[in-house]
This record gives sequence, C-alpha cells and structure tokens, in this order.
Amino acid sequence: MTADVLTSVAEGVATVTLNRPAKKNALTTAMYAALADALDAAAADADVRAVVLQGDERVFCAGNDIGDFVGLPQTGGDLPALRFLRALARFPKPVVAAVCGPAVGVGATMLLHCDLVYAGEGATLLFPFVDLGLVPEAASSLLLPQVVGHQRAAEALLLGEPLPAATARDAGLVNRVLPDAEVLGLARTQAARLAAKPVAAVVETKRLLRSGAQAAVLDRIEEEGAVFARLLGEPAAQAALGSFLARP
Ligand code: COA
Repeated sequence: MTADVLTSVAEGVATVTLNRPAKKNALTTAMYAALADALDAAAADADVRAVVLQGDERVFCAGNDIGDFVGLPQTGGDLPALRFLRALARFPKPVVAAVCGPAVGVGATMLLHCDLVYAGEGATLLFPFVDLGLVPEAASSLLLPQVVGHQRAAEALLLGEPLPAATARDAGLVNRVLPDAEVLGLARTQAARLAAKPVAAVVETKRLLRSGAQAAVLDRIEEEGAVFARLLGEPAAQAALGSFLARP
C-alpha cells in the first residue's frame, strides 16, 4: 500500500491517480506494485468498464524514480515495473490517459498502451533513455515507430527530442490537446462514454485492435528489460543517473 497511487471506482470507471507531485510523480518500486495491483483489480472487477490514468493539472509522471534505479538489482526478473508494464499491455478494458506537464520515460512510454490520450497545452513527452545510457522500455522501441514512423521515433528515442503536446498530437500519440484545466474532466467524460457502451463489444473491439501486436509487445518488453537492466550497471548510466541525484 502506498498513498502515492490513488484508486477509486465510480459509475463503471476506475480512476488511477499518480499522487507524488512533490517528486513530479516519479515512480518508485512501491508505486509500480500499486499500479500493477490496481490494474489487476480493475481487470477482474466486472463493475469496472474503463480506466482513467492521470496525474494532476501540473504533472503526469517524471518516469522511474532515479534514486530507486540506482538501488535496483541488475536483472529484469519479476520487478514490479515489469509487472506493471505487462499488466498494462494486457489490460482488457479501455484506458484513457490525462496528461498534463511532463511525461518522461515510462511516463511517456506507458501512453503507447493507453487507448485514448488527452494532453494539456503544457504537456511534453520525453524519452530520455539514450542520454541516460539506457534503452527504451515498455515496448516503446516497437510501438513508437508503429505509431509515428521510424524517423520521428528515432528523433524521439535516439536524439531524445522532446515532443510538446501539439507535436505529439500531430504525430498520432495524443488524441486531443486542450487547456490543462480541462484535461482530467475530458478524460473522465470519455471514460464514462466508454463505460456506458455495451461492455462485450468494447472489450472485444479493444482485443481486436491490440491482439495483432500483443505477443510481440510482450516479448519486446522482456527483451528491452534485459538490455535495460544490463546497461543500468554500466558506467554511462551510473554517471548520468548519479549526476541527476547530485543536483544541488
Ligand atoms: N526520480 C527521482 N526524483 C525526481 C525525478 C525522478 N525521475 N524527477 C523529478 N524528481 C524530483 C526532483 O529531484 C525534485 O526533488 P527535490 O525537490 O527533492 O529536489 C522534484 O522531483 C522536483 O523536480 P524538479 O527537477 O525540480 O522539477 P522541474 O519542474 O524543474 O523538472 C522534470 C521536471 C520532470 C523535467 C525533471 O525533474 C526531470 O528531468 N526529471 C528526471 C526525468 C528522468 O530522467 N526520468 C527517468 C526516465 S528513465
């Protein structure tokens, strides 16, 4: 249990809120475990017909907690982060993301597994893995080029170029950009619309939309996880992560 992830269910919609704003919603091991548990519970609960994944009006998620990174074992294994990513990739009901402010690292890659993504005008997606001496995760090395094309994916993943909300929308990563104050409300409205539709038709349609790539996505999550864990122990990553932690 952690108060850094909040969950609630109302009128067919489970809302999962990242709630560690003082650390820009950077995900700790405990938060990954809570997120995985929340998704497992929502998948099993017949009263839940859609999920909203959100931060607040200022920040979505600054990625993995960098302090936690440094202390992690260097094997992929059954880390809560992988459990969360697998649960999200397999999640059978629609997921609506509300993104304001920074969405960095896993904060950006998790959006590739969401079905609808609404972003505030101040949102920015950033995939800084290479600059950290790491590789992309959450099957983003597979999914990002599928959505935006190879060259734009290379710009985001190799160069680490930020994608402001409008750029992300134009590239197909975001459905709509709106004032930050309206994003959570629209995500709720869209999730409620989904929850009101015939449930079997919604779930089967999501399955059909996702099933062509799902086995490859799950394989890629494991492959990336193994390389990521290896590179985490290398000097380039240790130096980059260490310099973030040593900031004044
Ligand atoms: N891990 C751990 N702590 C983090 C964090 C992360 N990924 N991201 C932010 N924080 C913490 C900061 O250390 C700071 O803590 P402090 O107030 O105790 O010093 C607090 O959150 C606020 O962050 P700050 O950098 O001051 O906010 P900002 O608005 O200037 O910048 C970000 C926001 C997200 C752009 C910036 O924090 C950042 O680049 N974070 C790292 C992102 C990253 O590389 N994630 C890993 C991806 S694999």
